[in-house]
Amino acid sequence: MDFPKVSGGNYVIPSLFFAGVFALCIWSSSVSNPFILLSNGRHCSNTKLQNQNNTSNFDSVAPRDELELALARASMANKTVIIAVINKAYASQEPEAVTTMLDVFLDSFWLGEGTQSLVNHLLFVAVDQTAYDRCRFLRLHCYRLVTDGVDFGGEKLYMSEDFIKMMWSRTEFLLEVLRRGYNFIFTDTDVMWLRNPFKKLSSNKTEDLQISTDGFSGNPWSEENNFINTGFYYVRSNNKTISLFQNWYDLKDNSTGKKEQDVLLELIHGGIIAKLGLKVRFLDTLFFSGFCQDSRDPREVTTVHANCCRSIAAKVGDLRTVLYDWKMFRKTNSYNATAGFKWSPHLGCANSWKR
Ligand SMILES: *[C@@H]1O[C@H](CO)[C@@H](O)[C@H](O)[C@H]1NC(C)=O
Ligand SMILES: *[C@@H]1O[C@H](CO)[C@@H](O)[C@H](O)[C@H]1NC(C)=O
Ligand SMILES: *[C@@H]1O[C@H](CO)[C@@H](O)[C@H](O)[C@H]1NC(C)=O
Ligand SMILES: *[C@@H]1O[C@H](CO)[C@@H](O)[C@H](O)[C@H]1NC(C)=O
Ligand SMILES: *[C@@H]1O[C@H](CO)[C@@H](O)[C@H](O)[C@H]1NC(C)=O
Ligand SMILES: *[C@@H]1O[C@H](CO)[C@@H](O)[C@H](O)[C@H]1NC(C)=O
Ligand SMILES: *[C@@H]1O[C@H](CO)[C@@H](O)[C@H](O)[C@H]1NC(C)=O
Repeated sequence: MDFPKVSGGNYVIPSLFFAGVFALCIWSSSVSNPFILLSNGRHCSNTKLQNQNNTSNFDSVAPRDELELALARASMANKTVIIAVINKAYASQEPEAVTTMLDVFLDSFWLGEGTQSLVNHLLFVAVDQTAYDRCRFLRLHCYRLVTDGVDFGGEKLYMSEDFIKMMWSRTEFLLEVLRRGYNFIFTDTDVMWLRNPFKKLSSNKTEDLQISTDGFSGNPWSEENNFINTGFYYVRSNNKTISLFQNWYDLKDNSTGKKEQDVLLELIHGGIIAKLGLKVRFLDTLFFSGFCQDSRDPREVTTVHANCCRSIAAKVGDLRTVLYDWKMFRKTNSYNATAGFKWSPHLGCANSWKR
């Protein structure tokens, strides 16, 4: 698959055009070998013309794997995708709510610098039917992750049993994505994308994992002093990262009461990085920030995560304020006068811990 490199103001027409060609690919790939077609986009339309009349052939072919199809649709040319997991509580409005986390998340791509076209590479993994329906309604890339016997629809309060189950189910899914050879940015939907993160992430192929932190120690290689946050990271698919995710997931049943993030932190402190020969970069909150530690410079900030926060309503409220701050920053174009810039306090989140 070969999407054009799109940037600047001109991306709409080419991407629509290619989306059209790609739609033909998908249609025809269910007729013949999908993998051959995927490797060469231009092949697709021919194949379609040859096959479009042959309904008997169409019906007799086993359906193509949904996950592969979803990944291929969202992928960049270099097998890189952006993955976000959504459930009903994030995607659908409660009667008293004015918006959803999903809407605020998408707003950030619209308002960010150089982030609009990244939505083309964003795959939403829906853990319940409502989230999936909403995703489809918004014409996004959507994949329905089915986990037996668990309803992931409601709001999961931090550290509740279902919260932890949902976390493990996503780790299992991401392991599968790596096994299929896709690199990805994993992002929680309570992360605002204010700038294109690929510009601040290292493109050095030797760096297997680049992961955000709640608090950055100043040393991107220090395993001891950086508090990782699994709400945003970039991982390359290779044997080492597959093995890391496998080791991580294997601890699922031996980690009662711990969330997967803490289990990964323990693995790191237990020396897994050296054992597997991984190169892991801990990301500076100057660029990849959050409510635990604000970015100190709006000229550099790339993402803002509503970490150190307990409820969805508090996150949504405080993230809308972040977007407001961001819009004001861009409007006044105060690139020189950043001394005057301050993030509004995250009051909703600060109060969310009180019971
Ligand atoms: C489809 O097949 C029918 C019968 O074989 C033929 O009449 C028709 O022209 C074909 N249509 C196309 C688009 O090839
Ligand atoms: C239609 O598909 C069948 C079954 O694969 C095949 O034998 C036949 O040659 C195809 N016909 C055309 C016109 O492609
Ligand atoms: C894939 O392409 C994007 C955009 O050019 C780039 O930023 C990213 O680093 C690439 N990913 C990999 C794994 O090379
Ligand atoms: C990537 O990182 C390795 C190890 O730190 C270094 O030797 C190499 O020069 C880097 N490559 C690039 C292109 O910067
Ligand atoms: C993983 O390792 C095996 C053998 O150890 C090798 O054949 C394979 O190519 C490797 N895969 C990747 C993605 O590096
Ligand atoms: C499970 O955890 C206990 C205590 O931390 C440890 O002794 C045991 O080896 C672990 N079992 C597995 C299968 O990892
Ligand atoms: C910002 O600073 C640059 C150079 O430091 C200067 O040329 C420019 O006029 C300044 N702009 C404003 C709006 O102060």
